[in-house]
Amino acid sequence: MIPDEIIEQVSQQADIVAIIGEHVKLKKTGSVWRGPCPFHQGTNANFSVMPRGGYTCFVCGEKGTVFTFVQKRLGMSFPEAVRYVGEKCGVAVPEYQPKREGPDPREPMWELHATVAEFFQKQLWDAPAGAEARAYLQERAVSRATADHFGLGYAPRDVQAMRAHLNGLGVPDERLLAAGLLVKRDDSAELRPRFRDRLMFPIVDQGGHTVGFGGRLLGPGEPKYLNSAESEIFSKGKLLYNLANARHAIRKEERVLIVEGYFDALRLVDAGVEHVVAPMGTALTEAQAELLTRYAKQVVLLYDSDGPGQKATFRAADVLLAKGVEVRVVTLPDGEDPDTFTRTHGRAGLMPLVENAMDVFDRKVQLLQRAGWFNDLQHKRRALDRLLPTIRAASDPITRDLYLARAAEAAGIAREVLLSELHAVRRGNRTSGAAARGAADAGRGGSRSSGARSGGAEQDLRDADAPPPGDDSAPFMPSGPYRSRVEQGNAEQTLLRVLLTQPIHQDLVVEELGKLEAEDSPGEGLGDAEGFEESPGVLRDPVYAAIYAAVLRHGADADPETFASELDPLEIHVYETLRGEADAVVDAPRSIADALRQLRDRSLAARIAELDSLLPLADAEQKNAILARKNQLAKERRALGSSSWRAVRTTGNR
Ligand code: UTP
Ligand code: MN
Repeated sequence: MIPDEIIEQVSQQADIVAIIGEHVKLKKTGSVWRGPCPFHQGTNANFSVMPRGGYTCFVCGEKGTVFTFVQKRLGMSFPEAVRYVGEKCGVAVPEYQPKREGPDPREPMWELHATVAEFFQKQLWDAPAGAEARAYLQERAVSRATADHFGLGYAPRDVQAMRAHLNGLGVPDERLLAAGLLVKRDDSAELRPRFRDRLMFPIVDQGGHTVGFGGRLLGPGEPKYLNSAESEIFSKGKLLYNLANARHAIRKEERVLIVEGYFDALRLVDAGVEHVVAPMGTALTEAQAELLTRYAKQVVLLYDSDGPGQKATFRAADVLLAKGVEVRVVTLPDGEDPDTFTRTHGRAGLMPLVENAMDVFDRKVQLLQRAGWFNDLQHKRRALDRLLPTIRAASDPITRDLYLARAAEAAGIAREVLLSELHAVRRGNRTSGAAARGAADAGRGGSRSSGARSGGAEQDLRDADAPPPGDDSAPFMPSGPYRSRVEQGNAEQTLLRVLLTQPIHQDLVVEELGKLEAEDSPGEGLGDAEGFEESPGVLRDPVYAAIYAAVLRHGADADPETFASELDPLEIHVYETLRGEADAVVDAPRSIADALRQLRDRSLAARIAELDSLLPLADAEQKNAILARKNQLAKERRALGSSSWRAVRTTGNR
């Protein structure tokens, strides 16, 4: 903290007229100075500055001190503003001294990364090996100035180059290994660089320290981007790409733009749009949202226009709304991302989209409306189930009220009904299934195609962050729910085990599950509204569902390589485990029958719960129909003998 006496001294010494005069054309009138107001972009001289005081605008009411002026116009924090003004008037403002003994222990790591960034940069511009990367930048229309602004570099293909250079500077291999910049294969003493033949984006933390890298392949291949491994200094979920450079602009604009990728951020800055940040291949985390609230109260999300992009948008929005931030969304034309769009249309094309960005909740309502989801009772219910979490997420009470009113209007139901729905916690219906699935999905990084977008901070199953092939990758071991092998009464697991060990039963199982699925979603006229989580299929567990989907595509007897090529590491692990448990299948037909009965029971229970959830939204006539249907389902459920499966032995002795 800056001592109060110093702040007082700076304030006394500051020439407020000179400082504001750099930004506003001021004219002396009597004892004050006047000019056009920079805050409401006035043209008349309504803005007045008092040489021994502050400034005021008589029209828009903005007023403050020399410090607030600098904060608002230059986008600085208070301490930065004091330092800035202090420099102008010759008062020394001491650097903030954190109360710590000795230097920060992370200092050597930061320094090492900065040195390596410099090496990469030299390789890019001065080495023959960098020619391909230079051509790549040219092809993507990245100027030298922009590349330098971001400190772009090139990690050479040559496995010795970085190591030799750093050894030459006195950095031993151990430090490079500890930093994860070199990796050692299990099977040899050979040291290899983590990044090879990639365009390198240095990642800088809020304090301006170089803490890691994102590296892009110059050609096709996997993973397209490779980030530094998580470490004491590099934690993807707590960092935002470009924040260090953007923070002044963000404060000044009172708004921050969030894009998905490195190149998006780079392109916007290149076009003169500086208040932009990007998460690094994971869903926006709470920590990142928290970080942003320090700089701005409004966020504009500019994600890809495709389905996964939209889902990522809505997930990010809920996280941000929980922090009380206002969230708007820009919808880019189909097939465009901020990089491609801005490259073609420039700042002039992009800014109107940002200015007219839609509130995220309005956008959700709009999408549901377009998909026809407010037309019938069932869909109305599901539409509300997709809106309620966002209303709940909004921590700002005014926003929440507004959202509630909008949802009520769109659905054509009373606000009071919606309000009680907002507080009701529903269990057992298909929506909670979808939510559970969404959570599980996020927890393991989602499917391959959407992998870059979903996923919590800690999960690192995505290949992008695994070490390069052949390096010290330990075999994957699940820690959560899939640990216990043979789980009593787990129908989904039982069915898959039978399918994978005795493929001869495949036709029967597929047929029965198909029937169940059809009963589950009777007369589903409308598709999923784009950008929302899908309803779960007949298997609710996302891992079992993924394996079953692969069975449907290739057959249960397809060879393991086929499965492995489509599944993620956790799914592969579970697939292999089940396939190896032939012993646990004692009486296959009986296991199948019991499992199917269990799934049918569950499905009936879910459908009954769903009917219950429709009641508050229904009119009298609809209510009668719903109750009749409910009775019928309850009867079916009783006929099933819903608890008999419990007695059945599904396991061998382990
Ligand atoms: P995209 O796949 O949308 O890439 O991933 P992009 O930014 O458009 O990249 P270009 O234009 O093809 O170069 C968005 C972001 O997700 C992360 C990166 O941070 C990327 O910028 N990502 C993507 C990974 O971490 N790993 C991957 O394999 C892919
Ligand atoms: Mn792109």
